[in-house]
Amino acid sequence: VAPAVRTATGNDVDAEPTVRAQRETYLTTSTGVRLRDTDHSLKAGERGPTLLQDHHLREKITHFDHERIPERVVHARGAGAHGVFVGYGTADTVCKAAFLQEGVETPTFVRFSTVLGSRGSADTVRDTRGFATKFYTDEGNFDLVGNNIPVFFIQDGIKFPDVVHAGKPHPDREIPQAQSAHDTFWDFVSLHTEAQHHTMWNMSDRGIPRSYRTMEGFGVHTFRVQNAEGETALVKFHWKPRLGVHSLTWEEAQLLGGLDPDFHRRDLYDAIEAGAYPAYELGLQVFPDNAEQVFEGIDLLDPTKMVPEEMAPVQPVGLMVLTANPTNFFAETEQVAFHVGHLVPGIDATDDPLVQARLFSYVDTQLSRLGGPNFNQIPVNRPHTETNDMLRDGFHQHAVHTGVAPYKPNSLDGGCPFHAGADGDLAGVFEHLPAKVAEGTKVRAQPASFDDHYSQVRQFWLSMSPVEQEHIIRAYTFELGKCYEQTIKERQLQCLANIDARLCSEVATGLGLPAPEPTIALQEPEPSPALSQVGEAWPPD
Ligand code: HEM
Repeated sequence: VAPAVRTATGNDVDAEPTVRAQRETYLTTSTGVRLRDTDHSLKAGERGPTLLQDHHLREKITHFDHERIPERVVHARGAGAHGVFVGYGTADTVCKAAFLQEGVETPTFVRFSTVLGSRGSADTVRDTRGFATKFYTDEGNFDLVGNNIPVFFIQDGIKFPDVVHAGKPHPDREIPQAQSAHDTFWDFVSLHTEAQHHTMWNMSDRGIPRSYRTMEGFGVHTFRVQNAEGETALVKFHWKPRLGVHSLTWEEAQLLGGLDPDFHRRDLYDAIEAGAYPAYELGLQVFPDNAEQVFEGIDLLDPTKMVPEEMAPVQPVGLMVLTANPTNFFAETEQVAFHVGHLVPGIDATDDPLVQARLFSYVDTQLSRLGGPNFNQIPVNRPHTETNDMLRDGFHQHAVHTGVAPYKPNSLDGGCPFHAGADGDLAGVFEHLPAKVAEGTKVRAQPASFDDHYSQVRQFWLSMSPVEQEHIIRAYTFELGKCYEQTIKERQLQCLANIDARLCSEVATGLGLPAPEPTIALQEPEPSPALSQVGEAWPPD
């Protein structure tokens, strides 16, 4: 196997990664010395103590002792698959990214996940699901790190440790996983009422998907894009599963959690193995890039708000088909490192305060999860393009860099003019899209447009069919019924009163508590049919 050689002036991307089949009939140490016996340690006589000088014993046990790496702090449990994305070319009017152009085929790796459970937890719990995609584009890696719910719990990333601490198992007993029997979870969402929207999606059938193959995916945040003419627009990314959106019933989810905790993982693997390749269409909701970044009264920088599809239809821009299972779970599904900051020319982040914190968090956590700064050299994380960074050394460095001048510009290693576009050619060059930064004083505050925590929750509730509403009522009743603290149940009932009177009174009856009156005036929005697509294939016709 050819060693991966990186030079300071150009990366030898043809060099194969170190693939070791471990299928030879003989055994060696890690340094290649052939061994005669791996079943008996070296002892002072047949019945004597083991000798410290037994290098093979120590190497074998030491390596085993260090096999585990920390699980992800969130989204620890996941399942991955390789795929191919093909652009339709329909995004050209708004986005110049090469992988979206007509007919361009881009390899992808997807990791689906639950959020709160540990690595060994059950698949079918009521929870949000991660839907993270790495596109190995010709212009470098683009990661779309999304969820199966289009809004998020919090408006500012500074609260992320708080919401996760509230949702994870109690620190004393380390039970339960996911969101049942959870005073801390309901304490948080009833105090931080911006979380009510995401929570209602969790309590709906979306919280218990039938399969990773029947889940939508959402980039959640608004992104800023640019076309070849330099015009900018705001977009939201959507994945639409070709099989439609389907969920389990709560009874099915609970039974499966006990009978087959690997239900979703197995379903994905088996489907791909059988050639029933899961397919998802990528779509864009497009909004004008106005200075306010508000669309029809909806603040596009508030990640607890979505834009209903009848106000901005999702326009299909490409298709991803998952065609291969990982060959090594650890090497691929466990070691893959996604990051919202992995952007390609034509796509940029916005000032959404949630994505701004995410831009910091992912690399930071991966530095400890993957043991140092060189995790982008792990095969699943490597771009399929040439890399020519000036990054050197560090833990788990696998590249043998050559050259004496790891800085640019230099006059020693061939000159290396480095300013992209110095010759006027900016094709394939990533640039942050110019944007006016709001003027003002440094403040810990947010705009008043973030203050409405209820009208979209009510809109979601009203868009549900009677059966779906019944499921939501039962989910709130079941989950809140597991709280020990009555004040928490009462506070959450107050939140439900601010969403809908019938929802509140039915859950209150189930809990044996009085239903409070709303503290805000309830709006009467039109039901939003596009929000309720359970069971529909995509495209709808
Ligand atoms: C992991 C989505 C918000 C921090 C993940 C993963 C997904 C995801 C899908 C799993 C990636 C994988 O499969 O390896 C989202 C979405 C968010 C969000 C859609 C909001 C819209 C945040 C925020 C923070 C954060 C606000 C922190 C400020 C993390 C961390 C991981 C993670 C630390 C673990 C990454 C790793 O160990 O590789 N997130 N997340 N996320 N997320 Fe988020």
